Amino acid sequence: MKTLHTIAELREAVAAAGGAPAFVPTMGNLHEGHLALVRQARQQADAAGGGPVVASIFVNRLQFAPHEDFDSYPRTLQRDAELLQATGCDLLFAPNEAELYPEPQTFRLHPDPALADVLEGAFRPGFFGGVCTVVLKLFNAVQPRLAVFGKKDYQQLMVVRRMVSQLALPVQVLGGETARADDGLALSSRNGYLSAAERAEAPALARALRELAAQVQAGARDFKAQEARALAALRERGWAPDYVALRRQHDLAEPLGAPGEALVVLTAARLGRTRLIDNLELPPLR
Ligand code: PAJ
Repeated sequence: MKTLHTIAELREAVAAAGGAPAFVPTMGNLHEGHLALVRQARQQADAAGGGPVVASIFVNRLQFAPHEDFDSYPRTLQRDAELLQATGCDLLFAPNEAELYPEPQTFRLHPDPALADVLEGAFRPGFFGGVCTVVLKLFNAVQPRLAVFGKKDYQQLMVVRRMVSQLALPVQVLGGETARADDGLALSSRNGYLSAAERAEAPALARALRELAAQVQAGARDFKAQEARALAALRERGWAPDYVALRRQHDLAEPLGAPGEALVVLTAARLGRTRLIDNLELPPLR
């Protein structure tokens, strides 16, 4: 695997490897969830008759609010590169900030507010604008045929899908399943912030989602009351939840409860200093 630090070097390496890469953008500090996306990209590339797999590592300042963890976000490039190499990645694009943002990034994307100003976007204003701006820029640098994003960041996947469709970007976007620890906790770089006691409590978040999903599958349709009960139960256990929300999968709008509707339940909650997000897709309503 080759590591490239500039867009010019990257483009040269992609061309030398035959072009049309399969791409996995990340902010590094890689875990099994990221690596599963790289394996998915590898499979897709091989099935399409070759083409390199490109991963990127870039902690994107534009998607962090001033009070968030941009400075302390874990940066573990050497270890990440070894993991990527062992997982079948061909090229690692690891630009520094001056390469991606040589001057203040004053051109920004403003994603559809109906999709990007709700849920995560309501609690992290500007977050999806920052994500879209860097993802578009990374797409332009890498020029991928396809890109893989994790369902762990469900809203991000939906926002990126809509950006690609509304801007006619020639990239196929694939979703990868959420990788979890044995106790159900969704893997996340931010899990490293948890104390031992918090880590023991953390699986309660995924459990809350499973319980809510089971209620819906058993016929419950009082969505607002179910969300409120889940929020109260988390608070009772010492969490500070931002939201627990049952939404339609494709546009994250409020569900009607009609047969055939495919829902997802999404949550974000703080445990001590650490903010965790998770979600669970439900089978279509009967
Ligand atoms: P990051 O949080 O590093 O995540 C990179 C990719 O890995 C995202 O597509 C995310 O959804 C996926 N991922 C994270 N945890 C996962 C898990 N447990 N299972 C499956 N996939 C998982 O998301 C970002 O970076 C950034 O916003 C980025 C898209 C790179 C733009 O800066």
